Amino acid sequence: MKITISEVNKHVGEEVTIGAWLANKRSSGKIAFLQLRDGTGFMQGVVVKAEVGEDVFQLAKSTTQESSLYVTGVVREDERSPFGYELTVTNVELIHAAVDYPITPKEHGTEFLMDHRHLWLRSKRQHAVMKVRNEIIRATYEFFNENGFTKIDPPILTGSAPEGTTELFHTKYFDEDAYLSQSGQLYMEAAAMALGKVFSFGPTFRAEKSKTRRHLIEFWMIEPEMAFCEFEDNLQVQENYVSHVVQSVLKNCSLELNTLGRDLSKLENIKAPFPRITYDDALKFLHEKGFDDIQWGDDFGAPHETAIAESYDKPVFITHYPTSLKPFYMQPDPNREDVVLCADLIAPEGYGEIIGGSERIHDNDLLQKRVKEHELDPETYKWYLELRKYGSVPHSGFGLGLERTVAWISGVEHVRETIPFPRLLNRLYP
Ligand code: 4AD
Ligand code: MG
Repeated sequence: MKITISEVNKHVGEEVTIGAWLANKRSSGKIAFLQLRDGTGFMQGVVVKAEVGEDVFQLAKSTTQESSLYVTGVVREDERSPFGYELTVTNVELIHAAVDYPITPKEHGTEFLMDHRHLWLRSKRQHAVMKVRNEIIRATYEFFNENGFTKIDPPILTGSAPEGTTELFHTKYFDEDAYLSQSGQLYMEAAAMALGKVFSFGPTFRAEKSKTRRHLIEFWMIEPEMAFCEFEDNLQVQENYVSHVVQSVLKNCSLELNTLGRDLSKLENIKAPFPRITYDDALKFLHEKGFDDIQWGDDFGAPHETAIAESYDKPVFITHYPTSLKPFYMQPDPNREDVVLCADLIAPEGYGEIIGGSERIHDNDLLQKRVKEHELDPETYKWYLELRKYGSVPHSGFGLGLERTVAWISGVEHVRETIPFPRLLNRLYP
């Protein structure tokens, strides 16, 4: 019977056939250990010459790395392997022989691996990261569907710039100018007025000349938006959502987290509620810590965020940033015009900002004033402003960056390993 590695637990003691690639092997004159992978998992096949005969043994022994095979054998339980099962091979059939696979079991430099990303994805570690990514996406849909949200897909080709005009990817839209979406938020606000609670999940683009371990040019964002939702309600949705995602990964990806060597104790206590600190108090804290380089009105950089995050063992909300630092749509604090009702959620362990969110301005006059102050074209935002003309309500939302979240939960240093084909400052290949 043809099965996958993920199904072997249901076939202990049976003879099965698995379509697989040879990830690695070790052999002596009498026995060969084949490290098999089939996409669903990784498993060892043991080929004993005395049992399979000379021909099959020679074939197994001479098979090169990443050749494709049909391997037949009997499934055995095996406590020594983290996977728990092993295949006692009875036959090997070669499908295709791979010649000189470039990624050998020895160490390779990052640039080399990035140039071979199309092959690097096959490695056990990259496989584990993609599985964690998939679980985060699955848990995201689960959370929002269970909480009454409707999935809405905002456009990718747009005429507007929610997050400021400096980081836009320009393109032509026939005779018009267009930009690749840097956030679906403005469209999600329209959708929230139609469907109440909505969320999006899609690619976003930032033509940002940043070359850090947290920045991608193309990244995926989850953007919920909620009508009749104020600042504090918004934070509660965020902490419940992030807790759900982390607990789901812990529950469903234990093998992958083990492959990645993730310290599980750092994830186990990620449960709502999360601590909150205002921008003002965070600044005071930074000054006490000896960061003299930063003044009220400055944005926090990565070292500042990391210093703040280090005081907590959960993600922390930094709230009420100066109005001047944030986009035009954010609702000012009714008690203080100079700060807005926003929060960034900073992940622990130096992974930085994973969520940016806020209450949105719902007053038409104020929003018009802001559009002017930010020198945005009122014609482009006409439809957005109309949302404030016809039954405007308090509403809030946020955007979670998928890759930074994958990096944090997987314990992977750099976001380039958290997306199948990263788009980086100097990389469009492969
Ligand atoms: O803070 P940002 O820019 O917020 C927005 O775009 C809002 N319109 C979202 C909303 O309220 N609907 O981006 C949100 C998140 C960040 O916290 C970060 O996790 C991620 O998107 N992000 C990036 N991830 C990778 N590479 C980049 N260049 C990123 N820029 C933002
Ligand atoms: Mg932000």
